[in-house]
Order: sequence, then structure tokens, then C-alpha cells
Amino acid sequence: MPSSPPNQLATESDFRFRCIACGHLGDSAGQDFRCAQCGDLLEIVYPRWRESMPNAEHLKSTWRTRRMSSSAIDRSGVWRFRELLPTLNNDEQPITLREGNTPLYELPRCARLTGMTRLFAKHQGMNPTGSFKDTGMTVAATFARRAGFRWVACASTGNTSASMAAYAARGGLHSLVLVPEGKISWSKLSQALDYGSLTCQLRTDFDGCLRLLQELVREAPVYQLNSINPFRLEGQKTLAIELLEQLDWQPPEHIIVPGGNLGNSSAIGKALLEMHELGLISRLPKLSVIQAEGANALVRTLREAAGKRLVSVQAETRATAIRIGNPASWKKAANVLEATSGACEQVSELEIAQAKAEIGAEGIGCEPASAVTLAGLKKLLQQGFVKPNETVVLALTGNLLKDPDYTIDFHRGELFEPKDEAADAAMKKLRRPPIVLDATLDAVIQTLERAEKP
Ligand code: F0G
Repeated sequence: MPSSPPNQLATESDFRFRCIACGHLGDSAGQDFRCAQCGDLLEIVYPRWRESMPNAEHLKSTWRTRRMSSSAIDRSGVWRFRELLPTLNNDEQPITLREGNTPLYELPRCARLTGMTRLFAKHQGMNPTGSFKDTGMTVAATFARRAGFRWVACASTGNTSASMAAYAARGGLHSLVLVPEGKISWSKLSQALDYGSLTCQLRTDFDGCLRLLQELVREAPVYQLNSINPFRLEGQKTLAIELLEQLDWQPPEHIIVPGGNLGNSSAIGKALLEMHELGLISRLPKLSVIQAEGANALVRTLREAAGKRLVSVQAETRATAIRIGNPASWKKAANVLEATSGACEQVSELEIAQAKAEIGAEGIGCEPASAVTLAGLKKLLQQGFVKPNETVVLALTGNLLKDPDYTIDFHRGELFEPKDEAADAAMKKLRRPPIVLDATLDAVIQTLERAEKP
């Protein structure tokens, strides 16, 4: 049993916790990160920004200058933007693995395919543990250590656990992972094991793991590192800040992200609104969220309940990272979609598989959950919500290597039975199954010749 009672999560510094529903402001947060008055989620706000924030040009030049620095805090693609994050104490070093600093790629083939003029991918799969989670984890793990916790914990579909395990190890913290048995990829599980987590495979789904974690943090001095933890979302904001810097502060018309537990879309939306308020950008991009049809709680919440109450679902999808039916941050996500006039769509398993192969064929690749963005873009184009001449950025959240089984099953034609011939033909063109040959020159040359034939 973890011992050593934690310190209060009191803030001595510049930020406060605000309830997203009743607006109650507090200097501290309980272990469940919920409002003591009404029980809703908390977000971090910065009441002193108005009087103390340097102007936009000064911020941009400070962040640019730090790119030349060799100190660990400046080399982090998260802490480089620390003016927009909870402040560290004077001599405090963050737990960092040089996260962030992720590339913005153009996707010329996917642009041609969809009829777009310009299409970009912000590849968060290039983070140290292979997913966007690292940008939030560096902040939340640092504040867990500051609060005096020995144990950190999360429920996860795999990426959060891999990231938490790494940052806990770097920061000298113990970590407890709760994952659904049989429903996460081996790659992600192997990361948690190697980084030294106490890893529990529970006989339930992600939603069951998260429910149990909520009970656990009320009973034991364990600090939760799910995206309910608002420090995570502060770190994940930097995807948007770094992206805008890469675009020379010219906002794209659209940013499209996958939706699971809905922390990431909430974080990106928060960053866009804050950057707009601080004068870093002159207009807001539309932020859209795409879900798998089998895990479409936000889509249904907006369509069937006008965003007023959560419509949860029994989640099922091969994109296991977003196999979530009861997303914790649904209200935050609904708020930022409304504030940025974004859309919310769902895509089928077939559409996800096809989009993933198309991103792969660009020489970039991503995990299935990330590919919902390209599949969703196609729908938003059809609906006229996105115009072909607008600039669109897809947030690719995880690395191709995170789920090799999916990719291999796809290329071998074993992922699923296509429903119709047209779909089968479209998939066939994208499949590149491995070819087993005798080890002779002839066999290889013949194969090469066959490949050359139209
Ligand atoms: N993409 C990937 C690769 C993910 O791992 C996740 C979430 C998402 C998208 C969705 O982001 O939850 O912020 O809406 N993975 C979590 C995990 C839940 O446990 O790794 P979200």
C-alpha cells in the first residue's frame, strides 16, 4: 500500500483551479480533480495574466530565442512556452524527456487525393514515448512530484500508461497502470513494463478502469495522471502553440483531432482561445473532433442531447486508443467546439483503415486512432464544412509503431471482411502484404518484374 500522505495541492503561484460548470475558483484541488461545490471538472486559469503577461511580439521572440538554448527546460517543446503554463518554483527542474518539438509535415499525396490545396499533419507520434501524451505528462508528473506524492496512477488504453511510466521513472516516482485486459496493443503494454510500472490488466474496458481509478484516488495517496488532471491539459496545449509558431502565426482554417476521452481536443481548444485572447493569433481556427463510429459518445451527445448531457456508449473499435464510451472531458470538448465553431463527425472502421494506409503511403504513418482525422476530413469536405482551398492541420496523435498488429492485419487482408466489392477494391490498392520467397536471385527478380507491371 502506498504510504506517505501527500501535501495539499495548494498553489503558491500564479494559477488557480476553476470549475467548468459553476465557475467556483479555488487555490487547491482534491485528489479527484473535481469541484468541491458541484462535482464537475476543474480547469487551470491564470488571473494575473492580464496585468503581467508580456505582449505577443515579446512572447514570440522569447520562444524563438529559446530554440538556440542548450538548457533542458528550453529544449523541451513544452516548457519553452512556459509563460502559458503553471509556473515552476525558482530552482525547480521539470521532469522532461525533450518532449514536443514535433514536426509539421505537408501531406501532398493525401491533399491530392482529397482535392485539397494544402494539407498538414502535426505528428505528435514523434514524441519520446511515441504519442502526444508526453506533452501533458511532463507538466503533470512535475507537479505530482512537487505535491509530494510517491505514487502516480492512470487508467489507459495504452499511450497514457506508456507515457506516465516513462515520466514517473525519470522523476523517481512509482507508477500504477490500470489497463483493460486484451484491449491494448503489445507495444504500449511493453513500454509500461519496461519503464517499471506496476501494471494491472483488469477484466473490464477502459471506462471500467477509469471508474476504479476514481475510487482508488479517494482511498489511497495516489496521484492520478489521467487527463481529468488539469495539469495534463496545460502541457497538451503546447501542440497548438508550437503549431502556430511553425505556421509563422498564420492560423490555419481548420485543426482536426481524434476524440477519445476528449482531453486533447479540450487542451488544444483552450490553447487556441488563450492565444487569441493574448493577441498571439488574430483569428480562431475551427477545431473539429472525429470519433470512431463504434465509440461515438461526443457525436451522439451533440446530436441527440444538444451537448447538454453525455450520451455514453458501449465502445467497440479496432482503433483501441479511442475505444472509450464514457469520455471524462466531454463537457470541456463540447465547449471548445462551440467556441471555435468546429464540427464533430464519426467514421467507419473501413474508412479508418483506408485513411491510415494513405497516411502510411506518405512515408509518415500513424496509429489507427490518429487516422480518423483524415477519414473525418473527407466527410467534412463532402459536407462543405471544409473548403478545398482552406488550410487544414490533422493532429496525428500516435506513432505507427504503437500498433503493428493492426498494420500487419491490414496489409495481409485480415483486419476485417470488407462489406462490398468497391470497398474491397479500394483496400486492395493500398495493401502491401509481405511476400515469402525462396532465397534465389531469380525469385527476387521475377517479383520485381511483376511489381513493375501495371
Ligand atoms: N489518439 C491516441 C493515439 C490516443 O492514445 C488517444 C487517447 C487519443 C487519440 C484520444 O485522445 O483521449 O484526449 O481524446 N488515449 C488515452 C490513453 C485515452 O489512455 O492512452 P483523448
